[in-house]
Amino acid sequence: MTQENSANRVAIYPGSFDPITNGHVDLIKRGLNIFDEIIVLIAYNPNKSYLFSVEERMEMIREVFNGTKGVRVDCYAGLLVDYLKISGTSIIMRGMRALSDFEYEFQMALMNRRQTRKIETVFLMSGFKWFYTSSRLIKEVVSLGGSVKGLVPDNVNQKLIEKF
Ligand code: PNS
Repeated sequence: MTQENSANRVAIYPGSFDPITNGHVDLIKRGLNIFDEIIVLIAYNPNKSYLFSVEERMEMIREVFNGTKGVRVDCYAGLLVDYLKISGTSIIMRGMRALSDFEYEFQMALMNRRQTRKIETVFLMSGFKWFYTSSRLIKEVVSLGGSVKGLVPDNVNQKLIEKF
């Protein structure tokens, strides 16, 4: 039976999650109203540098969703479409904040679909509270001594403080 007509609808939620923010957390929780299972996928490029290691990022996400049914965390260093093929899934979930996200997201969705027509990208609007939250700004603010309390989960806030 294919995934499309089975009862278990799985979506891959890929991202850098460096680190996960409350905007991501909100999206995953809302995604669970649509999908039976969400695989939060840390898609990383081994040649790129990140603030947190893949292991640290996975651990932080696992701590946040500890015990939440339907959330799995994984990582992958190759093409996203290859991960979808290997895992037998066909749905990518992504969040969209302001209009500024649109072009980047549109390009990625079309590029992924160009590689395999079986893929669909589903966009959820970012929660209003998280419109201005991004991992990049979070890191910048903390690195300069600012507070991001409330914008990231508490365990992530703690890890950020330790890093800087
Ligand atoms: O959180 P980000 O950094 O916006 O996520 C971007 C991400 C990781 C989803 C994207 O870079 C990606 O899919 N990387 C995996 C490699 C790949 O498939 N690249 C081609 C994308 S069209």
